Amino acid sequence: MTDYKGTTGSGATWEETYRQTAPGDLPWNAGMADGDLKDLLESLSMDSGKAYDLGCGPGHDAAYLAGQGFKVTAVDLSPTAVKLAKETAAKAGVEEKIQFATADVLALKGAGDAVLVHDRGCFHTLPSDRWGDYAGVVSELLRKGGVLALKVFSFKVQGSLGPHGFTQEALEEVFEKTFELTAVKETIFQGPRKPYALFGVFRKK
Ligand SMILES: C[S@@+](CC[C@H](N)C(=O)[O-])C[C@H]1O[C@@H](n2cnc3c(N)ncnc32)[C@H](O)[C@@H]1O
Repeated sequence: MTDYKGTTGSGATWEETYRQTAPGDLPWNAGMADGDLKDLLESLSMDSGKAYDLGCGPGHDAAYLAGQGFKVTAVDLSPTAVKLAKETAAKAGVEEKIQFATADVLALKGAGDAVLVHDRGCFHTLPSDRWGDYAGVVSELLRKGGVLALKVFSFKVQGSLGPHGFTQEALEEVFEKTFELTAVKETIFQGPRKPYALFGVFRKK
């Protein structure tokens, strides 16, 4: 499996970062599901079908999606992150409703049957020469009309330790071949540091 570096600035891999850091100290761990994801689901009235949470980390969004009725696959490169996500799901009583995968999102093979792909903070950590591959993978996972909900650092984040900060135009450029950007919101990553974020909602053409 590719040994991607984490984004804490320590030079550690994702797995090393999860092993070295208490869950509550992970800078992206808000301890709850993402507010923009919740708003999106309300506005779209979506509550069932196959969904992916890519780079699930501690798993609050995967557990939320399962609780809403989605058939969830939660994917993370780090075995320790997947273990955390299982614990989060067990606490929420939805462990049985989630399929967990320790895998590189760039190696996923899709059946084109998912209604939703959610990514809070994974895509923006990938090297720029893999962004096109990521768009291809997500396109393979989703059925036509399926939704990609993507939260990334905004270009407004100063002195970022790793994740790329995006403009709306840069995001559109990555996904325009197979996706239409239907909404983009300037927001934050809820959690201890609250960096500026963009929350993009794409539909597969
Ligand atoms: C910034 S964290 C966000 C975690 C989670 N989505 C959240 O919001 O709490 C990014 C996550 O993506 C995972 N990740 C990074 N690159 C990945 C890849 N190529 N495949 C799968 N997971 C990856 C990391 O292990 C990490 O858990």
